[in-house]
Amino acid sequence: MNLVFLGPPGAGKGTQAEKICAEYGLVQVSTGNILRRHKKLGTPIGIEADRIIADGNLVPDGLIIDMMKEELSKPYLKTGYILDGFPRTLPQAVALDEYLARKGETIDCTLVLNVETSELVKRISGRRTCRTCGRTFHLIYNPPIEPRDCEIGTCEIFQRADDSEEAVKNRLRIYAERTLPLIDYYSERKLAVPVDGSGSMDEVYARIKVILDKLLK
Ligand code: AP5
Repeated sequence: MNLVFLGPPGAGKGTQAEKICAEYGLVQVSTGNILRRHKKLGTPIGIEADRIIADGNLVPDGLIIDMMKEELSKPYLKTGYILDGFPRTLPQAVALDEYLARKGETIDCTLVLNVETSELVKRISGRRTCRTCGRTFHLIYNPPIEPRDCEIGTCEIFQRADDSEEAVKNRLRIYAERTLPLIDYYSERKLAVPVDGSGSMDEVYARIKVILDKLLK
């Protein structure tokens, strides 16, 4: 099963992808995480993308498409995957379809997480991330209680630079302009399924599970 998770910043794509992958044996492929890994390693991609991400802008399509073609060719994805944060422009969606068609593969479903803007802002402003293991927490909804929560060593909690008020406003605007059109793109192919992303993490998870279990029947 190959899935795409679409939704505005803070909608819970990463949170839900992690849980769904654990239950369904899929692999989470998050472009945001891959880019942040490049930054940490100081690669040319990381250096080029750093300022763009911090300002809340989109990294150029060419760079993302090449990066994702390389990622999607890796054998660890053979069991199925969730694309979290990719595609997020029409050229990226077209490039993905062409790439998968050449390999005889497809996307089975695109889940579109919908959440009110006021709730998105609450979720993003409380988000904290572990620099060591990459896990995401929330100061109120999912607090990092113990340093030993870290999957690798000791959690080093930080707030993402692109979670600043200015960058978030920009990310929401860009989502509306560049990513929302993808809902029509996938709806025309009968692949887009809306999900109410409001409520607790467990409530959203239960809604997604119903959709995926139907898909697997
Ligand atoms: P990326 O890291 O993908 O950021 P994003 O898409 O803006 O998504 P977020 O990570 O902000 O939110 P999410 O939906 O995953 O929410 P989360 O689960 O963390 O990308 C970062 C940047 O990289 C982009 O801005 C761009 O510059 C670049 N980039 C990436 N992909 C690109 C591409 N394809 N093309 C070009 N550029 C690209 O949840 C948020 C918070 O809420 C967490 O604290 C969580 O604990 C909490 N939470 C989640 N669900 C709930 C719930 N139900 N109730 C309460 N709290 C909740």
